[in-house]
Amino acid sequence: MNNLTWDDSLSVEVDEIDEDHQKLVNLFNILSHSVEQGDSADYINAVLDELITCTIWHFKHEERLMLLHKYDGLVDHRTEHNELIDSVKELQQKFSREKKQLTQEEIEYLEGWLTGHILGQDMRLGFFLMKVM
Ligand SMILES: [Fe+2]
Repeated sequence: MNNLTWDDSLSVEVDEIDEDHQKLVNLFNILSHSVEQGDSADYINAVLDELITCTIWHFKHEERLMLLHKYDGLVDHRTEHNELIDSVKELQQKFSREKKQLTQEEIEYLEGWLTGHILGQDMRLGFFLMKVM
């Protein structure tokens, strides 16, 4: 299992967004460790709940900043946000309802999605916000 690490290459140069991203990276690592260690289903479910809640909260945070500063890429950006939330919720349903174990591949897929989003849409947003904030 590879830990997801946050470093300057993931910085969007806006502190309040970087801080949220670091929390999400941390939660992904907690999830990955708990699956690897075979922690209880209740615990893994609690981590998933926390990850989903934190992700939704963070996306709302970014979307508020986009509205506040009249960012013209909001619609596309929000579409990507909704895709990630759907994917994580799907994973949680699979885990809690169908009682299927999460795999490291599934977690790594979502981690890859998150870093891809940070390097794409969030960098573009950060570049914009740096100029207007
Ligand atoms: Fe975003």
